Amino acid sequence: MNARAGASDAREASAAQKRPSRQINVILRNADHDPLLGNANAADSSGNLKSLPQSGPWAEWQKELDRLVGLDDIKELVYEIYALLQIMQYRSEASLQAQPHVYHMIFKGNPGTGKTTVARLLAKLFQSMGLLAKGHLVEVERADLVGEYIGHTAQKTRELVKKALGGVLFVDEAYSLARGGEKDFGKEAIDTLVKAMEDYKNQFVLILAGYTLEIETFLMTNPGLPSRFPIQMVFPDYSVDQLVQIAEGMTKDRDYTLLPQTIYKLRQLLVQEKTDAIYDFSNARFVRNVLERAIRYQAVRLLSQYPVASPGRQELMALRPEDVRGL
Ligand SMILES: Nc1ncnc2c1ncn2[C@@H]1O[C@H](COP(=O)(O)OP(=O)(O)OP(=O)(O)O)[C@@H](O)[C@H]1O
Ligand SMILES: [Mg+2]
Repeated sequence: MNARAGASDAREASAAQKRPSRQINVILRNADHDPLLGNANAADSSGNLKSLPQSGPWAEWQKELDRLVGLDDIKELVYEIYALLQIMQYRSEASLQAQPHVYHMIFKGNPGTGKTTVARLLAKLFQSMGLLAKGHLVEVERADLVGEYIGHTAQKTRELVKKALGGVLFVDEAYSLARGGEKDFGKEAIDTLVKAMEDYKNQFVLILAGYTLEIETFLMTNPGLPSRFPIQMVFPDYSVDQLVQIAEGMTKDRDYTLLPQTIYKLRQLLVQEKTDAIYDFSNARFVRNVLERAIRYQAVRLLSQYPVASPGRQELMALRPEDVRGL
């Protein structure tokens, strides 16, 4: 929804959320190899899981998933869901019981780790497998659900559930619904969502997303909730190698290229940023923002170098090290 972009930016800017566990992750990861030099086996860590079939109906989905760097556990889980849906279809064709499963999910992970992207992909998968009628994603957060007076929250929440019917309702920063305690309208939103899960059983999939620690606290303080969300997906922070691979994919998608010196500069920037913004590093979104900024700097540089004529195809594509700067 509209509030989303602003909220994400504000979240990136905020160092308020202190998550000490991340420090441990970064140290362990950096111990593996020199992040500036990269990892010779980096390509192995991007999709193309050997254990998943490379042909058949799944192949199309595999292609979509291959566009995502890393996230191996998530890819396995998506395959598990795909397999189940496929087998359920065969079972009902064979007049065997094919009772619908519950697919409501919890996504845990830091900003920019791919939660919204995967939710959108799952919505499409569910639609193509006949589990959901439309396969759209309605992305909301606290401000979209919570109203200003008694009854307003239930009404707002119900309207959004209706909008999500046939698709996925994705509640970002779900823990913020429990922020104000018993008297807060957030609680009314949770209660309305839980009721909607019963009222519209199998008509939509509810995904609650948020930072790992906050979402775990949220689930602990709402003991009735965890059992309603049988699928939990953890989105780990990306390594520098993975972030570079993500950058390469994003530049290719946009018809730009990164020179080897540019990749080196980007690596330096990523190592620096991961150290400086240890608690609020925004992973792939940081990469996207750096690239978009580099694209703007490249435009300014090219116009000053070639004030009257086109710089030519190679120059139009190449992002140089001087174009890459911190945010
Ligand atoms: N594994 C990945 N491979 C390639 N691109 C990725 C990957 N993960 C994320 N991205 C890209 O990074 C950007 C941010 O991802 P996304 O919005 O899905 O993150 P998020 O976890 O929902 O973040 P937030 O919690 O801040 O909402 C998007 O442009 C997305 O395409
Ligand atoms: Mg998101």
